[in-house]
Amino acid sequence: MTLNVTLNDFDFVLFGGSGDLAMRKLLPALFSRELAGNFPDSARIICVGRNDWTQEDFFREIDKNAKIHINKNAPAAAPWKVFLNRIIYVRLDADNPASYQALITAVRSDEAITRVYYLATPPGLFSKICNNLAESGLVNKNSRVVLEKPLGRDLASAKKINAEVGRVFSESQIFRIDHYLGKETVQNLLALRFGNVLFEPLWRREWISDVQITIAEDLGVGNRMGYYDTSGALRDMLQNHLLQLLCIVAMEPPTSIAPDAVRDAKLQVLRSLRRFTPTALAQDVIRGQYRAGYIEGVAVPGYRDEAGADPHSRTESFVALKTEIDTWRWAGVPFYLRTGKRMPDRLAEIVVRFKPIPHSIFTQASSSFQPNCLVIRLQPDEGLTLHLMAKTPGDSMRLKPVELEMDFLETFRAPRMEAYERLLLDVLRGQLTLFMRGDELEAAWDWVEPILHHWEHNESDPIPYTAGTWGPPAASALIGRDGLQWREEVLPQS
Ligand code: BG6
Repeated sequence: MTLNVTLNDFDFVLFGGSGDLAMRKLLPALFSRELAGNFPDSARIICVGRNDWTQEDFFREIDKNAKIHINKNAPAAAPWKVFLNRIIYVRLDADNPASYQALITAVRSDEAITRVYYLATPPGLFSKICNNLAESGLVNKNSRVVLEKPLGRDLASAKKINAEVGRVFSESQIFRIDHYLGKETVQNLLALRFGNVLFEPLWRREWISDVQITIAEDLGVGNRMGYYDTSGALRDMLQNHLLQLLCIVAMEPPTSIAPDAVRDAKLQVLRSLRRFTPTALAQDVIRGQYRAGYIEGVAVPGYRDEAGADPHSRTESFVALKTEIDTWRWAGVPFYLRTGKRMPDRLAEIVVRFKPIPHSIFTQASSSFQPNCLVIRLQPDEGLTLHLMAKTPGDSMRLKPVELEMDFLETFRAPRMEAYERLLLDVLRGQLTLFMRGDELEAAWDWVEPILHHWEHNESDPIPYTAGTWGPPAASALIGRDGLQWREEVLPQS
């Protein structure tokens, strides 16, 4: 996508500048925006790390670890050189106030220049970094801070982060990243719902039977066991990415696309989610953990056999749950959320199923009619499929399900923009709509916390599922109890 973006001159300071996220996602995303010509000539990227490296050492790291993640095959020499010319490596010990002198020297003092502090660090450092920045005189009215997940591990820790960062930065300077909000399809969902009149009248309990949101990954935990085993699927994916998708699907029409209009609407959804009772916790939440299996014919180890794993770990790599939104619009409509690692495919989709037609005028058995269904795909490709009934050609009045398909890339024939590219641009231009507000973050933790407590006090293990399957059978039973099926269960087998 070619965006006509005019950015103010900036110093982009990346804490965790030599870390995995910087190399895999952030530097490649910044380079893509370089290629698109979005950056003012004098803009700088200041990468902060603990290693005692020279500028050349750091360039070697980028060459080794970031270049391979750049989308466009080998980056052309000229823009790559321009990009490297912007980068300054600064060695700094985030804990030590004295070492911020190096950063004072690296950033420009002109207050008109946008200054971004991107904290791609463990959350334990957020407060120290913010305080040290403030005490070193490095925070001005044109400064912003970007916080990467995990943004807490429960309500109390999320509140603590909000309070500590909030002592230094005002809410309008805080960008809490959920990279799912940067995905093209999520914004297209806003366009679909609020740029057309077709859907909004139907987008309610009278016409919608149920909504499924799935984020499935074929990958396992990989080399992130240290982090993941203390987190699990509920904290890693559901509390943030899935709930944000749910908010965009279910929110009331905001009055505008302005940050607080959208975030107020999302907050209302989070606050209307039905609280789990002890019975609902036992019945409506399923946690699973993968065992050895096959993905596309390749044998993969079980969770407890992954490198660095605790052989008795009870961390869930899968979670499925059913919830409801207690509002006039959604009362009685079940929302099923599901995410897991080592599932058969990498797939992220939202499935909105409509009710059956109220009365059939056809002689054909109405049981052969499929209710309309809208599938909004985020991954692997980005698009929409609307399932309709249509007459088959010929002299008899026979109806069959057909699919109206739209592929966003094909339709617009525009280059794809990675979620981080979009979000980094939004940070640089001060656009907060696609970032979580502090009260949203707390409302999301508040809602998942009973599940966390329930699991903590429950001695049972997560239910095992074989790698390469769609999770434990209990997840099918969860939705089956309501006479429904997950979408892949009703698809014809290829
Ligand atoms: C991250 C999680 O937030 O999202 C990872 O920490 C997960 O565990 C990743 O793999 C999935 O993101 P995407 O964009 O690849 O679907």
